[in-house]
Amino acid sequence: MRFLITAGPTREPIDPVRFLSNRSSGKMGYAIADAALVGGHEVVLISGPVCLNPPHAAKVISVTTSDEMFDAVDRHVRDCDIFVMCAAVADYKPAKVSATKIKKRGAPSSLDLIPTRDILASFATRDRSFFVVGFAAETNNVEENARKKLFEKNLDMIVANDVGATHSAMESDENEVMILFRDGEIQRILRAPKKIIAHELINIFCKSVRKTFDKKTAAIT
Ligand code: CTP
Repeated sequence: MRFLITAGPTREPIDPVRFLSNRSSGKMGYAIADAALVGGHEVVLISGPVCLNPPHAAKVISVTTSDEMFDAVDRHVRDCDIFVMCAAVADYKPAKVSATKIKKRGAPSSLDLIPTRDILASFATRDRSFFVVGFAAETNNVEENARKKLFEKNLDMIVANDVGATHSAMESDENEVMILFRDGEIQRILRAPKKIIAHELINIFCKSVRKTFDKKTAAIT
């Protein structure tokens, strides 16, 4: 199967030396890419800025901003069988990027922000030919918030992470996830190293893609 996977954060520049970003390490997305390669799949990995070694056998595309990630996904998504949007895309970016370093004297005390494009929702169109997996980063009401995203973004499946203070998945080598399907089914993977979670996720993704494909074939014949 051909996987398109996004990982890591995006950076939204304020001026040449400052940016808005988040704590995503990219570890979960990279572990999923590794597990897909081990499973014999083809992988295109679109990565935000992270401190990880890229998987050798994957085609890796490095991006910085949410706009660059959007364009990279746009170029590759139609050639994949499964699109896994694991990246922590910034939701807002500065309305204006200063070409020169903003000096502390006379600097504005607030920053005007505008929303970034929702990459996942933009490509999860009704007529798509690929399977779409989203991730949900939640600190509270994890199941309810993730289910909302599953339907609002028209996904096939969503993997919900708890990024709250106590057992945050962010930056950690471990994770614990809840996988929500459109028919209401929920699967849980208990706390484990991200590498183990990634292998289980690849099995779940592949089973679901095959099930969806079989249903479509049955509907045609
Ligand atoms: N996502 C995206 N583009 C954005 C924001 C998010 O593609 N501009 C994707 C993420 O990669 C993830 C899913 O949408 O797969 C959910 O992201 P999350 O951060 O959990 O939620 P948001 O949609 O940003 O909503 P909120 O911040 O209100 O929880």
